[in-house]
Order: sequence, then C-alpha cells, then structure tokens
Amino acid sequence: MPALVLLGAQWGDEGKGKATDLLGGSVDYVVRYQGGNNAGHTVVVGDQKYALHLLPSGILSPTCVPVIGNGVVVDPSVLLSELSGLNERGVDTSKLLISGNAHIITPYNVTVDKVTERFLGKRKIGTTGRGIGPTYADKINRVGIRVQDLYDESILTQKVEAALDVKNQVLTKLYNRRAIAVDQVVEELLGYAEQIKPYVADTVLVLNQALEENKVVLFEGGQGTLLDIDHGTYPFVTSSNPTAGGACTGAGVGPTKISRVIGILKAYTTRVGAGPFPTELFDEDGEALRRIGGERGVTTGRDRRCGWFDAVIARYATRVNGLTDFFLTKLDVLTGWEQIPVCVAYEIDGKRVEELPYSQTDFHHAKPVYETLPGWSEDITKAKSFADLPKNAQNYVKALEEMSGAPISAIGVGPGRDETIEINSFL
Ligand code: IMP
Repeated sequence: MPALVLLGAQWGDEGKGKATDLLGGSVDYVVRYQGGNNAGHTVVVGDQKYALHLLPSGILSPTCVPVIGNGVVVDPSVLLSELSGLNERGVDTSKLLISGNAHIITPYNVTVDKVTERFLGKRKIGTTGRGIGPTYADKINRVGIRVQDLYDESILTQKVEAALDVKNQVLTKLYNRRAIAVDQVVEELLGYAEQIKPYVADTVLVLNQALEENKVVLFEGGQGTLLDIDHGTYPFVTSSNPTAGGACTGAGVGPTKISRVIGILKAYTTRVGAGPFPTELFDEDGEALRRIGGERGVTTGRDRRCGWFDAVIARYATRVNGLTDFFLTKLDVLTGWEQIPVCVAYEIDGKRVEELPYSQTDFHHAKPVYETLPGWSEDITKAKSFADLPKNAQNYVKALEEMSGAPISAIGVGPGRDETIEINSFL
C-alpha cells in the first residue's frame, strides 16, 4: 500500500519536479489533490522540457496514470490547451482521469479574481489571477459548477444562473463592470464537455482499488505548506489545502492509507505574491539567490522574493504535515558563499520564539535570529553520495536536518535530472 504525499514545505516552488524525477518509473498513479492552474512545475524528460500548470507530472510517463482529484479546480480551456500542447509533442495523454466532482473554473471566476485584486489595491493578495480563490469560494458557498454538471444542460444552466445571480450584482453595482450572460457561459462550458468526457471517472474508486492492489500512488501537492488556507500565512495564501490532510480530502483516500509524507525544502527560502516573509533579503545576497537559483515563477513569470533558510518554518511543516522525510533542493545555489546565515528562531517584541506563532500580528513582527554556518566553494553538482559533498556542505545539511525535525532523504545538487543525491529510498 505505498501511498506517498509529496508537498512543498515552504511557500511553494521548492522544486517538486526533482522528487518526481527521482521516483521515475516506479509510480503507477500521480494524483493532484488541490489547486488548479496556479501551480507550475517544469519536468525534464530526455532533452525535452515541459512546463505543466494543471496536469499532474505523471502525464509524461508512459507507464503512469495521471489523476486530477476531486479537490482540484479545473479550467477546461487550460486543460484542453495543455493536453493539445502535449499531444502535438507526441505525448500520449489518453490515460488521464479527472474526477467528476472536481470544480470548474468558469470564465466569471477568472474575471472576479482579477477585478477583486484590482479593487483591493494595496491590500491585494497577489494571486495568480487564474480564478482559483473565487472558484473555491463558489464551492464552499455551494454555487460551484462541477465537471459532472457539464453533462446535464438543464442542471448546468440552473447552477450558472444561481452563481451569476449575486455575482452580476456585485460586478455591475460595485465594480462597475458589465453583467455576464448566463447563456454565453453555458454555451462555452458545453463546448468543452465532449472533449473532456473520455477522461471523467470515479477517481475515488479507482485510487482506492489501486491501493488495494498494492500499486504505488503519488499524491502531488501544488503550492506549499505556508500557502495552505488553514495552516499558511492567512490571508496571504491560496484557497486550498496543499498540506498532507488535503491529499485525503482532495482525492478521497483515508489517512490510514498514506505511508510516507515527503516535504520538499529549498536550501534557502522564496515566496511570490504578498505576505510576511521573515528572512526576506533586500540586498545583493537576495539578488544573487534570485539570479543563481533562477527564481522566476513558471506560471506567472514574476520574480520570486528570496531569503535565507528558515528552520522555524521547516519545523512547522514537519508538524502540520507529519513529514516522514525531506527532499532538500537547490543546495548547489548556495555554493560560493563564505558564510551562510540560517534562521533558527524569531525575535518577536524583544522575546526569542522557537516555533511559528499562530498570531498573524506576531508573525508580521517576527525578526529572524540567525546562526551563521561556514560555506563551501567547491562545485557540488557532480556529487553522487553524501560523502562526496565538501565537509561544510555536509555540515550545512546536517544542521538543517537537526533543526527541521525530519530526515533529509535526498538532496538536489544541480538542475539536471540526475543531479540528485539519494540517501534513503522513498519506496
Ligand atoms: P492564488 O492561488 O492564485 O489564489 O494566489 C494566492 C497566493 O498563492 C499568491 O501569493 C500566489 O502568488 C501564491 N501561489 C499560488 N500558486 C503558487 C505556486 O504554485 N507557487 C508559489 N506561490 C503560489
């Protein structure tokens, strides 16, 4: 019953693609359980590079069944264009399964996302503008449209009417925008229905049967722990649960089925969008991390904010996800610094605090308390085992492991697919 959850331990963009690469051909199902096309990961297969936003990375493996779980929000136009882009490059996408219970990102959800952000002005969240938040809001308000609704025109029309009832009032009276016509939305959505139909399935049943048959199922989290709607830096978060529990609700698999929870942890920290970030750097070190680490969003093209490693956050990720392992990525980016500061605790209003404060006010006031570790200058990209790393790099990894509360079972030492040191196998 090997069910693994792979998720971001920080604010997303930790380099999950590397971990998926490491698991390679041994995975039978790759499941996305939350988020939508706000995620972005680059997967390299042979000499080909693919940027995926919505589809699970398993779509690129001929032996793997990619699954979009019920907890995901699906923009049908993005889905179809991602699929046709892959088909044009010769990738067989026919094995994809999409939950009939997944919610649809409608064109009006995208409009509301953009208009709301503009309206918020200085207080904006810095969303990806893909309609994610408004679609989850409709889901919780029970006015959402689900994939299965595309196959019953009368139900679809009633649901779109219900959803637009209030939204059109808000759009016209508050935001001064034109009302959105029900027929137009229904027509557009029905236009996608037949093309999506072959993929629609009872994914909960399929996945549970696969686990019964001892198949390897990988649950792939989008975004990261600190962007979780419940456990992240609310309100500067995404609108779903990337944390480990989200894999259970977003795929319909019980917690007793999950055998490993792997947190992807960057050797430093990045974040996109607004919100608190205690170790953020505004100097040339931050600029250097951004340049060397190539810290620019796959989905939005925005520069990522960069800072030193924050062990308080890593410990928090271990706790809220029940992490069994870490995959430390991008260690090579730190090569060349003489000294590397690591945040070991915060100072909040003059007091040292070891754990992430639950209070938003306190977290906004948190100042990093740094310990400085000696750096290394040797190229580490060819290291194949932990012992191949320079002593100071080994000590950096060991220090992070001790502070973070779970074993570091793999280390990314370069951008290449095989530039990874495996310490403990994930399977
Ligand atoms: P939304 O998910 O588009 O609603 O955006 C909410 C917040 O999550 C914003 O700060 C985004 O920048 C951030 N976010 C969403 N997806 C990702 C991701 O894949 N990586 C990093 N940040 C993300």
